[in-house]
Amino acid sequence: MFMKTHRRPIRSLDDRFHEVMTAHVNSAAYKIKAPLKRMSEDFRRSRDKTKNVCIEEKCPVDDDGNEIMIKVEGLCKIYGKHPEEALRLLEKGADKKEVQERTSNNVGLYDVSLNVRKGEIFVIIGLSGSGKSTLERCMNRLIEPTSGRILIAGIDITSLNEEELRYVRQKSMSMVFQNFGLLPHRDVKSNVAYGLEIQGIPEKERLEKSQVSIDRVGLSGYEDSYPKDLSGGMKQRVGLARALATDPDILFMDEAFSALDPLIRNDMQEELQKIQSDLNKTIVFVTHDLDEALKLGDRIALMKDGRIVQMGTPEEILRNPADEYVSRFTKKVDRTKVFNAEAFMKKPRNVIHDTQGPRAAMKIMESTDRSNLLVVDRSNRLVGMVGSDDIMNAICSDKTLEDVIEREIPKVRRDTPMKEVIQIMVTTDFSIPVVDDDGILIGVVSPSATAEALNGGDL
Ligand SMILES: Nc1ncnc2c1ncn2[C@@H]1O[C@H](COP(=O)(O)OP(=O)(O)OP(=O)(O)O)[C@@H](O)[C@H]1O
Ligand SMILES: [Mg+2]
Repeated sequence: MFMKTHRRPIRSLDDRFHEVMTAHVNSAAYKIKAPLKRMSEDFRRSRDKTKNVCIEEKCPVDDDGNEIMIKVEGLCKIYGKHPEEALRLLEKGADKKEVQERTSNNVGLYDVSLNVRKGEIFVIIGLSGSGKSTLERCMNRLIEPTSGRILIAGIDITSLNEEELRYVRQKSMSMVFQNFGLLPHRDVKSNVAYGLEIQGIPEKERLEKSQVSIDRVGLSGYEDSYPKDLSGGMKQRVGLARALATDPDILFMDEAFSALDPLIRNDMQEELQKIQSDLNKTIVFVTHDLDEALKLGDRIALMKDGRIVQMGTPEEILRNPADEYVSRFTKKVDRTKVFNAEAFMKKPRNVIHDTQGPRAAMKIMESTDRSNLLVVDRSNRLVGMVGSDDIMNAICSDKTLEDVIEREIPKVRRDTPMKEVIQIMVTTDFSIPVVDDDGILIGVVSPSATAEALNGGDL
């Protein structure tokens, strides 16, 4: 399998690239040639036809029906003078360290393939030097890949010339940097409007658009301030507003919140989540902070030595770490922040219908060894709960089950974070029912299963 995924870039290298690579590998003009040229021509033609090339319309769809905004195929980036030699060693199984020792080339990326779905926050995480920034910057070709392909909404950007690349970047991409990247001699509104200015948007329109963006990030009232008068958090809000002002399809963020102190960082993460729920951009977010990755990421790619060691949702990664490295990497994570009730929920066993009588309830309690029963109606909608004392009371005073049901009981949804479920759990001594949007009982979260799972047992 390893050989299979790797064969394509190497074959490309041998058959078609070798000449080009040796001549151009260190040149910004280096690009991959036919048959990708055809795509570039298609793109140019469509752009000529209309100035409004809307790349969203071109997103291909994967087998599961997800629209793919960014597709990375067999991407390699070797820093140094002899990339072909480094790639051959890597193909034979050498690691980054060995390649460095034997060729003095630095492996930035090796054989990276992934899809970023339209509208998701895709987080790239890993230790320093693992290749996060290289991968993100290859996606917008701020760094030229050594081999492999990057398709943005189906357009192979490794095949575009500089003018086309600039067009796609301006139209569809924005970047937010760790060090804010603000222009010191410009005020907030003019910093935010900068991308629109480059696009040649008339002043009135760009100021209107930048005001929308400034309001969105909570900086109203600071339009005339200069960067030197702003705190770190405010500067990054300006960075974010500037990135959003051009209404890009893709937002690239490289350690954008890493320089902020923890409380401000938390605010910015929440701000980004809020903005994302309004705007639904495709965001590629680089961080070395696992909590941040788990909080923000719809999916996460964990990198090591230029390769992706695991990719998946936060839950998938915590549930099934691909190897020892991932297990160690994720060991200290607060799992209650990541998992929701659904991950812990079990089929409810202590259930009775509201039409049944107290004696039937007593029998179920005895057979299940429970002192509480959840009561549901004919449609399995949760009605409430009865305890053994209530049942005894009903039997002794000739009441129906309905007379003794406790109707105001705590319940959660399948997407309630476990942190909240646990807060409820400590105030009760029974399993917490989980209901769907129609109030139908779909499961229970028990204190014992929760304690076991949070201590590292199987979920
Ligand atoms: N311009 C360059 N020249 C040579 N090697 C480079 C260059 N840029 C990056 N590298 C190397 O490529 C590898 C990946 O670097 P990259 O900056 O992508 O890592 P990173 O995961 O973003 O790290 P950090 O968390 O420190 O930002 C590292 O070994 C780095 O030393
Ligand atoms: Mg980096």
